[in-house]
Amino acid sequence: MKKKIVSIFGTRPEAIKMCPLVKGLEKDDEIESIVCVTAQHREMLDQVLEVFDVKPDYDMNIMKHNQSLSEITTNILVGIEEILKEVKPDMILVHGDTTTSFAGALAAFYNGISVGHVEAGLRTFDKLSPFPEEMNRTLTGRIADLHFSPTVSNVNNLLNEGIKKETIVLTGNTVIDALKLTIDPNFIFGDDFLDNVDFENEKVITVTAHRRENLGEPMRNIFKAIKRLVEDLDVRVIYPVHLNPKVREIANEIFGDMDKVHLIEPLDYKQFANLESRSYLIMTDSGGLQEEAPALGKPVLVLRKETERPEAIEAGTVLLAGIEEENIYQMAYKLITDSEAYNQMSNAVNPYGDGTAVQKTIDAIKAYYLTK
Ligand code: UD1
Ligand code: UDP
Repeated sequence: MKKKIVSIFGTRPEAIKMCPLVKGLEKDDEIESIVCVTAQHREMLDQVLEVFDVKPDYDMNIMKHNQSLSEITTNILVGIEEILKEVKPDMILVHGDTTTSFAGALAAFYNGISVGHVEAGLRTFDKLSPFPEEMNRTLTGRIADLHFSPTVSNVNNLLNEGIKKETIVLTGNTVIDALKLTIDPNFIFGDDFLDNVDFENEKVITVTAHRRENLGEPMRNIFKAIKRLVEDLDVRVIYPVHLNPKVREIANEIFGDMDKVHLIEPLDYKQFANLESRSYLIMTDSGGLQEEAPALGKPVLVLRKETERPEAIEAGTVLLAGIEEENIYQMAYKLITDSEAYNQMSNAVNPYGDGTAVQKTIDAIKAYYLTK
């Protein structure tokens, strides 16, 4: 009998990191792979599904504009129960730290279904930052039966919380598997603006920002620092703006119609990953970019007070720039004007695995049933 595995995800980053796994599960003869999307994100999720050609079996379509955390949680919890009762999976897989992940894991737990947690064990140890992700991943970790951890420090975090060693598997991060499928030195964006940017001769800074705890003054400070950099130095900023209306309002307010700041719509994953690989510098509060950029040898300034990805800082390709305007400005200024500091950071070191996380995860899922 094939094992029924339901992958549950709903936002852009989960989709990017789960689609390579879904593809792997689909190919495995011993597994029946079922995909359930909550669509906590709508357009940004659909962009990823299209790139990877993944067609969900269930689409809960829950997204509402300016949705609250309680709305997301309750809609998923109630909606997913019906699907779990119908499908009766052997295991569900959730990813990382979103509210989709936590609510999906909780629903499975309530219905007596095993939970596998992909990208398990990341921690900042500050329950308010990132909010609510630190709590989402900690609670998901308590519920999960199998933990797939990208790095040794993630494994150690789980061990320190009393999670049983035999339930933790060191896999690397599936984002490296995703990048392998995506980066192409001859990539054509298929976009008039991007195809005409002179990446060889211009210093292009790619910017993204969306964290809930940064909405408001911190995000204004971040954008003011970037604005000053563009005014003072010869750099171009490309910023695909997250669809969250609160983010878009602040981006428009600070950058207005600056010539060298290009506020564009979210790119599809192939376009964005290839933009990263051609950029000079990445400035972001995103989690995923802190993993992708080191794999591409691109320095990252993290626009947050802390990170759950200390490996990239240790590897030297990521620097924590904080959320104060002056500090961000100074750190970026140095990387743009001091080639020695830049070269030190751009030496490609990738602490997130060798692109075999998908296979390791599938092998671990199958081994789990042999030992049961
Ligand atoms: C969510 C995750 C966060 C993840 C981020 C990735 C939670 C609590 N947060 O945050 O962990 O890092 O996704 O981007 O799970 N919107 C659209 N279309 C889309 C996507 C979003 O219009 O395709 C708008 C909607 O108005 C929505 C708002 O953005 O209400 C915020 O989306 P939401 O998923 O609640 O939070 P994110 O900040 O995107
Ligand atoms: N990304 C994308 N298009 C964009 C911006 C980002 O495909 O316009 C990808 C990026 O390559 C990374 C992921 O989205 O893999 C990061 O998602 P996000 O910043 O929304 O969330 P986080 O990683 O912070 O959870």
